[in-house]
Amino acid sequence: MSLAAHDAGAPAFDVARVREDFPILHREVHGKPLVYFDTAASAQRPLAVIEAVSDFYRHHNANIHRGVHTLSQEATDAYEGARDRIAAFINAPSRDELVFTRGTTESINLVAQAYLRPRVGPGDQVLVSQMEHHSNIVPWQMLCRQTGAELKVIPFDDDGVLDMAAFRALLSERVKLVGIVMVSNALGTVNPVAEICREAAALDIPVLVDGAQAMPHQAVDVQALGCSFFCFSGHKMYGPTGIGGLWAPLSLLEAMEPYQGGGEMIRRVSFETTEFNDPPGKFEAGTPNIAGAVGLGAAVDYLQGLGMDAIGAYEAGLLAAGTERLLQVEGLRIVGTAPHKAGVISFTLEGIHPHDIGTIIDHHGVAIRTGHHCAMPAIARFGLPATARASLGLYNTVEEFGVLADALEQTRAMFA
Ligand code: ALA
Repeated sequence: MSLAAHDAGAPAFDVARVREDFPILHREVHGKPLVYFDTAASAQRPLAVIEAVSDFYRHHNANIHRGVHTLSQEATDAYEGARDRIAAFINAPSRDELVFTRGTTESINLVAQAYLRPRVGPGDQVLVSQMEHHSNIVPWQMLCRQTGAELKVIPFDDDGVLDMAAFRALLSERVKLVGIVMVSNALGTVNPVAEICREAAALDIPVLVDGAQAMPHQAVDVQALGCSFFCFSGHKMYGPTGIGGLWAPLSLLEAMEPYQGGGEMIRRVSFETTEFNDPPGKFEAGTPNIAGAVGLGAAVDYLQGLGMDAIGAYEAGLLAAGTERLLQVEGLRIVGTAPHKAGVISFTLEGIHPHDIGTIIDHHGVAIRTGHHCAMPAIARFGLPATARASLGLYNTVEEFGVLADALEQTRAMFA
């Protein structure tokens, strides 16, 4: 298959050139060229992101929103400028609707505690799917324990396709929020999120979308999705760790309680009372990850430079070719075979524990993740404690899937 993919109107995607942007891809592991198939855990960073963070610390570092001096104003401009660009990237109607958080996990916890906790009680329900990451399960379980609400689960089928009939059957006026993952980190399933939002909206039920694994692979438009909350992580989309976002309409953010108290989230404080800041500052207590936001802004610029449609088209071809090559490995079974997938191939190799697979192929220079992928219920649905998972990014190639498949074949031979 060709390494170049084209979309009408999108720039040509040249993976060889793209790989030059990622310094880490030039290193070796155990004397072999690094083959990085763990992007779903954390993507590698292009030079543009590394340099943006370095440039910030070298030339502009200071605290934001607090100083009249030049560096503080430059740092504030860099941080707020990143917010502008990231908000535009997800087509947020207003930059004030984008709250910087530490990532998807913090965004979901924020919504659970600041939005839902004051709005639910015994008899109410929170609906999530069986393929959620722990970060879209545990915060709701904690909330249920605090409030007496109940967690309900939308199942999926043997291919990893969400059971939409079950979803519809579970929807009722008792449901106070639906939490759904856009792309499953464990199975690769792409869920019909816009449809879920539409159907929930008919009953006035807000939908929180976990977009962590979607952002690196496809263009996201929060207005087209029709969700109430959209959560994402910088490090899954080629940006720094410890930075991410929560998008919600201003009306919701204004109606929500603050999540944490401290500096920046206030307008006026006395010992009698505190007047809170407007969103997004209301949810950004304390000194934020300023350099992280700057780096995430650079990651968004980088992705836009390549074109999300071009990235998506290239990765779709790569996923198909990689799946085909891996299925040639004797005894390999793919876990998660939904017709609409992105970025992830989870698999087992007959008779070999996934952890052994991961350890052995590391010696071939190949990095994959093994285990439950922070989605134990999804993996347990297949009667498994663990899988091996190759997750791809925009820098991977068909040839690298060949290296992975060869390494798996050699692993098999060791256990024969
Ligand atoms: N959620 C991350 C993964 O899928 C850590 O590996």
